Amino acid sequence: MTEKIKNICCIGAGYVGGPTMAVIADKCPEIRVNVVDVNEERIKLWNSSNLEELPIYEPGLDKIIQRKRGKNLFFSTEVEKYISSADMIFISVNTPTKKKGLGAGKASDLKWVEVCARQVAKFSKGYTIVVEKSTLPVKTAEVIKSILEAAELHSDEENLKFDVLSNPEFLAEGTAIKDLEFPDRVLIGGNNDDAILALSQIYSNWVPEYKILHTNIWSSELAKLTANAFLAQRISSINSIGALCEATGADVREVARAIGSDRRIGSKFLDAGPGFGGSCFKKDILNLVYLSNYFGLPEVAEFWEGIVKLNSWHQHRISELIIKKLFGTVSGKKICILGFAFKANTNDTRESAAINICKDLINEGAILFIHDPKVDANQIEKDLGQKENLIIKESKISNYSQFDSHWCKSEDILTASDGADAVVVLTEWAEYSELNWKEISSKLRKPAWVFDARSIIQSEKIINLNLNFWKIGDGTKH
Ligand code: NAD
Ligand code: UGA
Repeated sequence: MTEKIKNICCIGAGYVGGPTMAVIADKCPEIRVNVVDVNEERIKLWNSSNLEELPIYEPGLDKIIQRKRGKNLFFSTEVEKYISSADMIFISVNTPTKKKGLGAGKASDLKWVEVCARQVAKFSKGYTIVVEKSTLPVKTAEVIKSILEAAELHSDEENLKFDVLSNPEFLAEGTAIKDLEFPDRVLIGGNNDDAILALSQIYSNWVPEYKILHTNIWSSELAKLTANAFLAQRISSINSIGALCEATGADVREVARAIGSDRRIGSKFLDAGPGFGGSCFKKDILNLVYLSNYFGLPEVAEFWEGIVKLNSWHQHRISELIIKKLFGTVSGKKICILGFAFKANTNDTRESAAINICKDLINEGAILFIHDPKVDANQIEKDLGQKENLIIKESKISNYSQFDSHWCKSEDILTASDGADAVVVLTEWAEYSELNWKEISSKLRKPAWVFDARSIIQSEKIINLNLNFWKIGDGTKH
């Protein structure tokens, strides 16, 4: 019988490792939680006394860090030390799509997971439960197990013994703390009852038992990929219907309400937008595509690949539409972009629709003034592959076509709108639904457009302001 867990080590202090371990530390004061990462800068920020500097913006996270850091929650780069002292280790490292080699462009790159497994094999002591928290392809637990089993056989360390569990994470960014505190379910896959019990006991400190699901390890791994694939599928479905609405005179919000009230369909995840972003939907579907092909199911692979293709088409459709409405050219025109994060309430920009749309507009010669309450200029610089243009940021310029770099970060929406031909809403930050459009309109160069790809602006606030208005999926003005 396994003893209660007293010492957890989480490898990976990212968007999952950080918030997940903060909540475990908060709910289980008797457990010491060490979050380790090789990224020194990230760990420094997790330890910063200024909570505004935490590397991840997530509503409610700062309060937990304030309560727990230095008590039973610790962030460190001492990976080996805290692996050694742990009786349970969570692997929460990145698993991006492979860039080269076998399966490039689709399969997950498991090199970070393998490195972790080898570190665990080398530095663990006694009996250790290893938990896959990262999203992994089906059968990855087998890879981890074989590395650990080899260590059991060949290590000098006496009584070295491992069990491996799958415990995928379902939190969404922006609502991570709420999702962790009140999960729809906690999924634990494994075949050792004692290990499963030890992990279940941790969650049962705050999650009702009926929500803690036990499956075999492969079902657990596949369920995680499937959940993301189903969610992404809904977004591509509604965005495809949005395009049809725009072409036919229907309104996608009315269609969504009508279908969403069918309980079999449900009303969530039916908001048309600029296309799904985030680090996982695309990666996890491509992973499913790879697995389906690998297991000789090309029709299944093709079905899921369609979701990703539609999403990419949809993002370019929005850029093309903006260009068309601005008389077929945006060259040298100033455009105010509202929102760069892939969704509201996060500073994460991974796979954000804003990246593709901004790149398309920049390629056509537009000059972008980008506003986002949480994303900093360094991140935008990395995502767009172009340095911020500080000259246009700091001075009033009428001829923009002379510049090589085509964007700057703007802290002020009125400055970003001054002389612009269009405002494009790409992230649904609450503050964007409360803007003073009268003031903004007075700054724009006429005829001007407002493109609302998130459907957060009430049309009433725009009419009578001498502005052209496009809203995603709204064909009612045809
Ligand atoms: P992330 O890139 O934000 O964080 C991963 C961290 O792991 C990085 O800080 C990196 O430095 C660290 N790392 C990598 N190898 C290491 C090693 N050997 N030792 C120590 N540290 C190491 O990634 P993330 O968004 O937290 O995602 C992690 C996993 O969780 C992925 O598999 C992802 O698919 C899954 N997931 C993510 C989310 C999400 O909302 N981001 C939600 C559910 C599941
Ligand atoms: C998603 C899942 O919701 C989580 O359950 C999962 O754990 C996580 O992926 C993961 O594995 O990484 P996340 O990507 O953080 O979470 O955010 P979502 O709320 O799912 O949004 C994803 C994208 O879809 C965003 O760009 C969002 O704007 C878009 N979206 C979402 C829509 O366009 N319409 C909707 O109705 C909902």
